[in-house]
Amino acid sequence: MVETGREHAAAAAAAEGAPPASPRHQVFIENCTSTYSCPAGQTVLRGMENLGRRNIPVGCREGGCGVCKIEILEGRWHARVMSRAHVSEEDEAQGRVLACCVWPDSDLRLRVLGKMVKAVCRMPWEAPDTAPKP
Ligand code: FES
Repeated sequence: MVETGREHAAAAAAAEGAPPASPRHQVFIENCTSTYSCPAGQTVLRGMENLGRRNIPVGCREGGCGVCKIEILEGRWHARVMSRAHVSEEDEAQGRVLACCVWPDSDLRLRVLGKMVKAVCRMPWEAPDTAPKP
């Protein structure tokens, strides 16, 4: 059996009596060309907040408000129950889910949707659009 680097690190930590590190997955946001590292025990939304982008639309964090919609294009994930008011069965089958209700089980490739696009895809050094609208 071939041991991967991650397995080797976990075995070394166990041998030293330390708890094994939580596996992390790389999440690539295709429409922002950004990648972040998300621990397996964190939701995709919580990991996304670590990007440091301001104004990421975070609402209820429980699948009730629908502001954190994404489309998962590739990778394995699991989810808790989501409100059908925001995610239909067809949406869920197509990977259109709520980031606050989804945990990565592998590296993911996804797109942010709706209000998420402007907030997540804006670079940290870009000021929010505060100019008055005509
Ligand atoms: S934050 Fe409300 S549904 Fe995700």
